[in-house]
Amino acid sequence: MVCLGNICRSPLAEGILREKCKKAGLDWKIESAGTNGFHNGEAPHYLSQKVASINNIDISSQQSRKFVKQDFERFDKIYAMAEDVIVEIKQIGKEQYISSKVNLLMDEVYPKQNKEVPDPFYGAEDGYHSVYKMIEIACDAIIKNHANLST
Ligand code: 4NP
Repeated sequence: MVCLGNICRSPLAEGILREKCKKAGLDWKIESAGTNGFHNGEAPHYLSQKVASINNIDISSQQSRKFVKQDFERFDKIYAMAEDVIVEIKQIGKEQYISSKVNLLMDEVYPKQNKEVPDPFYGAEDGYHSVYKMIEIACDAIIKNHANLST
């Protein structure tokens, strides 16, 4: 799960998908990262932590890290929150960039509509709630679309 700062959107996406995988009995490796590295080592934004917590998800122990090209070796799927994030993933990935691994997160729900998860960083708490809802719908779709669940 990748955004710009890895403090607002992608920490929520990591926390939400991890929780849903736990409930579904899936042992997927899930991480998040940011393309700009400006907040390396920081915990998620307090409003992301608050909104997660209201939804019974604890993301307080996450630490921001920069996306690295080796992530292409470690992960099968790389979900970007927005188009500008994909541009930066390409730049970081260089020769390791594999376009088939990279998708907009919301493509899982609305394929080919170029729908982005908006950056809530400069706004108020309600922006974090709406981002949470979008990401939650997308994470449900990821499990539906990619898990080989027998039930
Ligand atoms: P995020 O939000 O990409 O959802 O973590 C941002 C947080 C910080 C910055 C940009 C986006 N920043 O440039 O500091």
